Amino acid sequence: MVATPVRTGSIGRPMQNLPRGILIYLSVVVGLGVVCLVQQTANFPLSDLGQAVFWAILLVLATLSPITLPRGGATITPSSAVTFGGLVVFGPAVASWFAVFNALVSDGVVRRAPVHKVVFNASQLVITVVIASWVYWNLGGRWGVGPHNSVDALGVADLGRILVSGVVYFLVNTTLVSGVIGIGEGISPRRVWQVNYLPTAPLFLAVLPVGILMAVMHIRVGMLPVALLFIPLLIARYCFKQYMDIREAHLEIIRALTSAIDAVDPYTEGHSQEVSRMAVEVGRKLGMRESQVEELECAALLHDIGKIVIQSDILCKEAPLTPEEMDIVRNHPHVGAELVGKLKSLYKVADIVAAHHERPDGRGYPYGRRNSEIPLAARIIHAVDAYHAMRSDRPYRTKRTKTYALRELLEGAGTDFDPRVVGAIEYLCSNGSFDAAEGWVPLEGKAAQSISSLTG
Ligand SMILES: [Fe+2]
Ligand SMILES: [Fe+2]
Repeated sequence: MVATPVRTGSIGRPMQNLPRGILIYLSVVVGLGVVCLVQQTANFPLSDLGQAVFWAILLVLATLSPITLPRGGATITPSSAVTFGGLVVFGPAVASWFAVFNALVSDGVVRRAPVHKVVFNASQLVITVVIASWVYWNLGGRWGVGPHNSVDALGVADLGRILVSGVVYFLVNTTLVSGVIGIGEGISPRRVWQVNYLPTAPLFLAVLPVGILMAVMHIRVGMLPVALLFIPLLIARYCFKQYMDIREAHLEIIRALTSAIDAVDPYTEGHSQEVSRMAVEVGRKLGMRESQVEELECAALLHDIGKIVIQSDILCKEAPLTPEEMDIVRNHPHVGAELVGKLKSLYKVADIVAAHHERPDGRGYPYGRRNSEIPLAARIIHAVDAYHAMRSDRPYRTKRTKTYALRELLEGAGTDFDPRVVGAIEYLCSNGSFDAAEGWVPLEGKAAQSISSLTG
């Protein structure tokens, strides 16, 4: 698999609109890439050209159908196995041109990306090839038919060296791409790498042996077995695509359910989607693992699903609720958890849904859990839910200002809300991306209603 930035908003812009940080980063990477390519081209083994063209055809086949990753917009293709196998067979000079060819086909032809993006991808792949081959060479590895042809065939001892340089290949490739995405999107490149590329490491390690095997077969037997070995590579790509499609369908079903929840109460239209978006930002800020962020996202989308059993005359009532009606409303986390819990794949999400109105001081509902008894994801949803409810129009009031909503959260920190979660929301608000609805305005006086009654 090879990483290339695709939907990255900033790098996809016209060259003249690129932020200064990206321009500097691109210049450094492209400069290094050009130096590496010129240096390698001087050593190009022209006698291998015919066989290299055969490998280049395989590379095109591997590059033609990239798969877009869920977050950050990057894509992967199995082409790195071919490029890496080519490195072992021909050496870095040919593999560097494979890298250039890969970027031209993948970005220039398939995606019709701007020229600077094609050049960046070509450069980062050339750098990747050169560093990985340097590691391979210094570990004692030798290319099979290149200019440094010191061995006639690859032996078992070479496999360890190939594996290590393969891991280096993955790390350099994904780090360079994470850098450009991170700078462009204003996210930590480390975070981009963790979210987008760390999960693909097992897939890369699974595909790498195919590239190694292609190299061994080419050197020991010839080109035909290489073509046969390419088939499992395409099957691996097909399986991964199926997994990504199923994952997306799963999220689509949850989003459809969410629309049904929001349709029950016209005043909360879009509420679950927004709470989900904000909760994910808070979860990431608090350093949750990506698998936990996914559970948080699902739970936030479904947190009010229990409301679908509440009669609309209670849900939309503008007058104060009777104690019986209040009990029904306060039971919606329990009902929601029961509904969500029926789906085996969402049993962890059910516990978060159950606890999304619990408070650290034990005065929440429906169970009165305290502090660590409440999952972190539920504490995040509780605070974000309150924030979003205050920032939305309701039948009994217009929306509150950002300053007002934040002040309410800060006053409730430690009793109503987890202080860490409130701190993260405060930080994200000051950054401007969390809630872009309106700017910072002065306090307009305290409302009579408590936070809990404002919560959606
Ligand atoms: Fe709720
Ligand atoms: Fe809500």
